[in-house]
Amino acid sequence: MEIFVCKKCGFLAFKEAPEICPICGAAKEQFIADPQAIKKPTDPKNLNESEKKHIPVVKIVKQCSLIGPGCTDVFAKVGEITHVMETKHWIMWIDWYLDYRFVSRQYLRPETVFPASMIHLKATSGKITVLENCNLHGRWLSETDLSA
Ligand SMILES: [Fe+2]
Repeated sequence: MEIFVCKKCGFLAFKEAPEICPICGAAKEQFIADPQAIKKPTDPKNLNESEKKHIPVVKIVKQCSLIGPGCTDVFAKVGEITHVMETKHWIMWIDWYLDYRFVSRQYLRPETVFPASMIHLKATSGKITVLENCNLHGRWLSETDLSA
């Protein structure tokens, strides 16, 4: 699958570049195909310590206690070993995609929050992609099937 990155802000789009960047408003022409935009573990079955700190862990809760029936809660944490949140090294944002379409971004400040995010989804099926951006170590993702 092709990956496109906004040259202005670094937003990442799957399959095709959007008409307008949902984060910074840049035009489609500002997007470039970049197969290296997302870091990949050397051996997915045997993650090293750095990979365990950067690959998001995703948890799905079918019954939402806030919205109620019809809402699926999805939680993400970076990562299996919780990533540090320090002023020189932190998770800058977490982006959510449903079936490779952008859904939401949460910005994180290292002084105040842990590297985690959640969304209240209307969907009950589809593929959830969580993409995080570490200021030093780049973008890492995790994919989960909602109906799993
Ligand atoms: Fe990092």
